Amino acid sequence: MHVQVSQAAGAGGRAYAVRRSPIHGRGVFATRTIARGEDIVEYRGRRISMEVADTMPDSDPDNPYHTFLFELNDGRVIDAGVRGNAARWINHSCAPNCVPYEDDRGRVMIAARRTIRAGEELAYDYRLNVEGRRTKKLLAAYRCRCGAPRCRGSRLGPAEPAGGRRRPR
Ligand SMILES: C[S@@+](CC[C@H](N)C(=O)[O-])C[C@H]1O[C@@H](n2cnc3c(N)ncnc32)[C@H](O)[C@@H]1O
Ligand SMILES: [Zn+2]
Repeated sequence: MHVQVSQAAGAGGRAYAVRRSPIHGRGVFATRTIARGEDIVEYRGRRISMEVADTMPDSDPDNPYHTFLFELNDGRVIDAGVRGNAARWINHSCAPNCVPYEDDRGRVMIAARRTIRAGEELAYDYRLNVEGRRTKKLLAAYRCRCGAPRCRGSRLGPAEPAGGRRRPR
């Protein structure tokens, strides 16, 4: 008997699996072809203020600067260390095949930026926002090991200019 499966059900189940990654620790890998633009997984977890997030210890005591936090557009943070799902294992890449976005229901979805083949590791650009001077120590702590030919060497996003964002003239 032929049974139709909706695209939302993943046309054959979940599109991803968690396993060891060559980039770092655990990663998330495509288990089938994923079409460009397809929503793959929601980034779930409890929602907390930035003030609370700033007081939290590192999520992995053996790995300082390890984070399960995702900054939302409204300034709050998703802490995937509590009620998080597989999305928290997605690593950073400087040549990402995925992109996170907030949908109109306020959920963070991880979507495909291009066609992704079975076996490829899923990754998005973390563009981490860290206050303070970008010292050598800080840059070393946020070093990127994505292995992309044009890796920028860091999981950090662009630095804010001193004194806040520059106003357009
Ligand atoms: C949300 S976790 C991703 C899952 C992680 N691989 C693990 O096993 O816990 C984010 C952490 O993974 C590591 N990580 C992710 N992408 C990386 C990359 N491109 N280079 C180096 N470390 C990375 C960093 O320690 C980062 O804080
Ligand atoms: Zn990189």
